[in-house]
Amino acid sequence: MILPQAPIYIDGQPVITTYYLQNGYLMVPALFFKYTGVFVDWNVENQSVVLKRNNMILTLPSGKKYADYYVKDMWQRDLLPTITTNFPDGTYIPLQYVSEKLGMTVSYHFKQSRTYIVTNTPPSSIPRIYYNGDPSKKRVALTFDDGPDNFYTPQILDILNDNGVTATFFVVGKQVKLFPQVLKRILQEGHEIGNHSWSHPELPKLTTTQVIQEVQKAELEIDSITGRKTVLFRPPFGLFTNADLRTIDDLGHQIIMWSVDTLDWQGISEEEILSIVKRDVSPGAIILQHALLTAPRILDGTVKALPGIIDYLRKRGYTFVTVHTLIEGD
Ligand code: NI
Repeated sequence: MILPQAPIYIDGQPVITTYYLQNGYLMVPALFFKYTGVFVDWNVENQSVVLKRNNMILTLPSGKKYADYYVKDMWQRDLLPTITTNFPDGTYIPLQYVSEKLGMTVSYHFKQSRTYIVTNTPPSSIPRIYYNGDPSKKRVALTFDDGPDNFYTPQILDILNDNGVTATFFVVGKQVKLFPQVLKRILQEGHEIGNHSWSHPELPKLTTTQVIQEVQKAELEIDSITGRKTVLFRPPFGLFTNADLRTIDDLGHQIIMWSVDTLDWQGISEEEILSIVKRDVSPGAIILQHALLTAPRILDGTVKALPGIIDYLRKRGYTFVTVHTLIEGD
């Protein structure tokens, strides 16, 4: 069954979602609510969706015309005119009922035929996302994602070493398990390690519990090899919801994005990578590159471009720092 898609505006930001109408009620995937900052889980035993926001817990059993909610230390029940429905791509729940029960405001703009949700979230409670560091200092952070591997990562480390440059590696737990010696080498040579999840999933497609597991499993693997905790997290594909942001923040990690995307993962040439860096770099930049062997090999350009990138940035007066140093005190 193919469902239609439409944007729903959350605090003014459009989020594209599948939906359907049931008895005039707008039904959306339970995971859609993660974009509003609500924690969303699935209780296997009770076959129900569990939503949490502030001190409120709301559960919607699949196929039932009611919802239970926990407020002020008591469970209460609401009867619903619609049934929570299971589809292959997720469980659908009534948008307006759930939003309002969790303290958000829903409105429908007839002229634009658009649905708006206002979450009423205090801006001060939203965790910060870092795209760059202090723009008044001529510093940059080179970052390499998806490793470690035993092909590109050692070559990158050699080049960094030869040039006396420190960088940050956002590593994937599964790769860490495969190449623990390479992870140790990264740290021994003075570079920083950040968490890039256990298996590189799209976080918006996971329940909150699954997101926690992705972060913690990678964290445990890194810790077991290095004896150190990471404080930085980069979401796979750069994708996350407001709930994921909160989850990662609660786990003690800062969310690190980037300001320069070299597009190296597209398998482009060293010249193209260097020209993107030249075009987009600015003081405080976080530069995104990758370090993972795939078949066919697509990251040869990354390694070839690196000496040129270092040389170019040095001549322009940039110094190279880890992400932690770049955002420190900012
Ligand atoms: Ni990645």
